[in-house]
Amino acid sequence: MSHRIPPGPSGRPPLEDLRALQIGPHAFLQRVAARYGDVLRYPLGPLAVYLISHPDGVRHVLQENARNYSKDTFQYNLLGTITGRGLLTSDGDLWLRQRRLVQPAFHRQRIAGFGTVMADAVEAMLARWQPYARSGRPLDIAAEMMHVALQIVGRALFSVEIGDQADALARATLTVLDHIVFRAKTFGVIPPWLPTPGNLRAHRALEVLERAVWETIRSRRDQGDAADGAGQAADLLAKLMAARDEETGQRMSDRQLRDEIMTMVIAGHETVASALAWTWYLLSTAPEAEATLHAEVDRVLAGRPPTVEDLSRLSYTGMVFAEALRLYPPAWIITRKSLAEDEIGGYAIPAGALVVTSPYVTQRDARFWPEPDRFLPERFSAEQARSRPRFAYYPFGGGPRLCIGNHFAEVEAGLLIARVAQRYALRLAPDQHVAVEPSVTLRPKHGLWMTLRPR
Ligand code: HEM
Repeated sequence: MSHRIPPGPSGRPPLEDLRALQIGPHAFLQRVAARYGDVLRYPLGPLAVYLISHPDGVRHVLQENARNYSKDTFQYNLLGTITGRGLLTSDGDLWLRQRRLVQPAFHRQRIAGFGTVMADAVEAMLARWQPYARSGRPLDIAAEMMHVALQIVGRALFSVEIGDQADALARATLTVLDHIVFRAKTFGVIPPWLPTPGNLRAHRALEVLERAVWETIRSRRDQGDAADGAGQAADLLAKLMAARDEETGQRMSDRQLRDEIMTMVIAGHETVASALAWTWYLLSTAPEAEATLHAEVDRVLAGRPPTVEDLSRLSYTGMVFAEALRLYPPAWIITRKSLAEDEIGGYAIPAGALVVTSPYVTQRDARFWPEPDRFLPERFSAEQARSRPRFAYYPFGGGPRLCIGNHFAEVEAGLLIARVAQRYALRLAPDQHVAVEPSVTLRPKHGLWMTLRPR
């Protein structure tokens, strides 16, 4: 085992690093990786961060030696104040049991079955958009993507019609997520029970989400659908409600059920929505890519709405989404705690260290991505993709904790992008200043106001 300490600043952080931190933590991570290299140690207050940004190191942490890296970190503990011990935040035996239980609901074939639900939600969105297309008034595409993504998760996984509640629930989601980022930035010094305006706002927002989750459980129980999971809606909710522990034969507790539902709601819509919002922004800045996308959807679909079966022929559409996920990975930071000491890239990682990988940093590394800041969907042609290491690109993570919703997200995005691109070209509203907000996900700071140009 190596005893070499990874490079990093000794003493006070250099001014340049602090300037980058002012732009945002994503810019800070990018700067320090460029300065100190693929494995670095950065003291931040009482903590030392170990940033691993070479694909080989990322593979080691997320995949090869994943057992040595737990989710007991500030990031996931804070997220756990919302999602409890659901799939995203739990570890060990509990995680493994729940993952096995939930996995079949995300099987490729099951997801193909969600195609109609997804397509219907997109059609409803297009109907809502008509007056905007006619008048040329801008609309907040980031909010629109949240709305549609939330409806899709609700219907596909829980057979719940979110309807008019979508905007309120999306707002509540953003409020609770922003609040945990605020708590992370302030190192949790303000106790959550103190009645500050921020705490009260977050508390109320969490109540809105809680009510929706409990109502979902209650109404399904009333339908008597929980008995064996084979009821009319054999969806994820039915599976979770019917699951029994192999050894004890016991049902999942109400609390665990609530945590899993909350996890899916939180993990399953804001991520997709941010990535889609960035997709529309990037396309509006890249006329060539947009024209290639338009040509593909026109050729493959000849005017009819896309179905899941079309997706394999809509390859450029998929590449557009992949490239948006490269430049603006919603999960821009992935944290772990090392359980035992380890060695990465020839450097020592002590036990109990905060180990950080950042898809944002690696996916903009010029060694793997020539002209890294340019939007070039062609990078994801099979030929170009073959020449890159697997972990040069990991918007969905990797190894055992790989995102369970990755195909769900890709199918949803493929159907939505193709359908919208068939009808409209989206353009930034005048005077729109687009900036990145590195919250729990990487999203557009002031929303994304765009106009719809019928094609
Ligand atoms: C573009 C969209 C999405 C992105 C970028 C994304 C990203 C990620 C990433 C990076 C992880 C791994 C985190 C880690 O290793 O610490 C993850 C895990 C997870 N994601 Fe996603 N996700 C997306 C969509 C979804 C959707 C649609 C769902 C559900 C419907 C979902 C549910 C989950 C869950 C439950 C986990 C935890 C899995 C486990 O640890 O077993 N995600 N996601």
